[in-house]
Amino acid sequence: MKIAIVGTGYVGLVTGACFSEMGVDVYCIDVDSEKIDNLKRGIIPIYEPGLEDLVLKNYKAGRLKFSTNLRVVLNEVDVVFSAVGTPPDEDGSADLKYVLEVSRTIGQNLNKYILVVTKSTVPVGTAKLVRATIQEELNKRGKSDLAFDVASNPEFLKEGAAIDDFMSPDRVVVGIESDRAKEVMDRLYKPFTLNNYRIIYTDISSAEMIKYAANAMLATRISFMNDIANLCDIVGADVNMVRMGIGADNRIGKKFLYPGCGYGGSCFPKDVKALIQTATNKGYNMQLLKAVESVNEYQKGILFEKFVNYYNGDIAGRTVAIWGLAFKPKTDDVREAPSLVLIKKLIEAGVNIRVYDPVAMNEIKKRIGDVVIYAKDMYDAIIDSDALFLVTEWNEFRLPSWVAMKKIMKYPLIIDGRNIYNGSDVREAGFEYYCIGAK
Ligand code: UDX
Repeated sequence: MKIAIVGTGYVGLVTGACFSEMGVDVYCIDVDSEKIDNLKRGIIPIYEPGLEDLVLKNYKAGRLKFSTNLRVVLNEVDVVFSAVGTPPDEDGSADLKYVLEVSRTIGQNLNKYILVVTKSTVPVGTAKLVRATIQEELNKRGKSDLAFDVASNPEFLKEGAAIDDFMSPDRVVVGIESDRAKEVMDRLYKPFTLNNYRIIYTDISSAEMIKYAANAMLATRISFMNDIANLCDIVGADVNMVRMGIGADNRIGKKFLYPGCGYGGSCFPKDVKALIQTATNKGYNMQLLKAVESVNEYQKGILFEKFVNYYNGDIAGRTVAIWGLAFKPKTDDVREAPSLVLIKKLIEAGVNIRVYDPVAMNEIKKRIGDVVIYAKDMYDAIIDSDALFLVTEWNEFRLPSWVAMKKIMKYPLIIDGRNIYNGSDVREAGFEYYCIGAK
């Protein structure tokens, strides 16, 4: 089987690498020629555990190829996956210009049956637009009878665990509207069925909705727990115990109940906004999701608030350290990261900042430049600091040397945005300690 995947971002590249690993011939396509040249030289544009090895191995084996030109490979392949970006418009809706550009290229060059699968997160109804756009271009070329199918196959991979998520997913959701499309998708996902998972076939609109509803549900759990944590702080309860107590109920489940300093990344913030906007466009008010968003905005400011309260507002001219910049561990992605909000507030308040992240330093530097000091390691970051903010729960931050830290910091205050330390241990080591919803 031969497939093309358009877009070599997280989703496209991981999909390409994983399908090629299963023996499928894959063309990964991107309009960015520099990115494609780099990939051919073995330079991977993103940090994702296991991805580099998989890409290099399959590229060398000749199963994974890179190209800038969909036109050239289009009539060689059985399936085209579209995994191009859908950046938010000004009003928060997903911008479909790249998705529709791919559809036009397909319509302008197609000479045989093909299945066009959308993997990008797109609003309900996009598959219909894709179909109409391809058809329109075929009609212009006098090829209105050429058969093709569209399908929706949303991706649920998590950054940092993308390869595992793709190789052994909880489920694969496929929205289809013909038996022929189902046969193709069945064949393609066959190697993965051995790994004991379920394929869920739905109509196309439902598949498109499943992706948004899943992310919105997860974001809702997080905002709910953040709200509960903030209340725990006020009434003197411990959210870690509350989390365990409610998570033990099978109906609730243990996962995704961790309070913190807000969710970030390329999916939750964008998808929640897009779903609210889809509803607004249709005249429906998505009240719950609006609250989910505003709780998250508030939560991103909570570490700064704790710092200001501790020093009774006397913070200008102080120095602080930040451990962790990425929106979560095991990625260099800083999109919508809580660290960005914290840094902005600190700078506005005249605070000096030293930062350290195991992999995301370059990414943050691209965004904010030299307004902070980039430390060479986690201990270098805390030199002379009046507070340490723990923002991303990288493993290497979990068991630091309290003795060394106490000597290096100017004042032993830790504000833990991910609840990774045990308050009594840290206090015993001589620190003041604040976290989210616990002591
Ligand atoms: C998410 C979805 O999990 C994935 O299925 C979808 O395809 C894309 O969006 P991702 O953005 O990579 O994946 O990260 P995820 O691990 O879900 O974390 C998202 C954010 O939520 C992070 O900022 C994380 O710190 C935060 N989070 C997660 C919490 O604050 N508490 C939790 O309990 C879990």
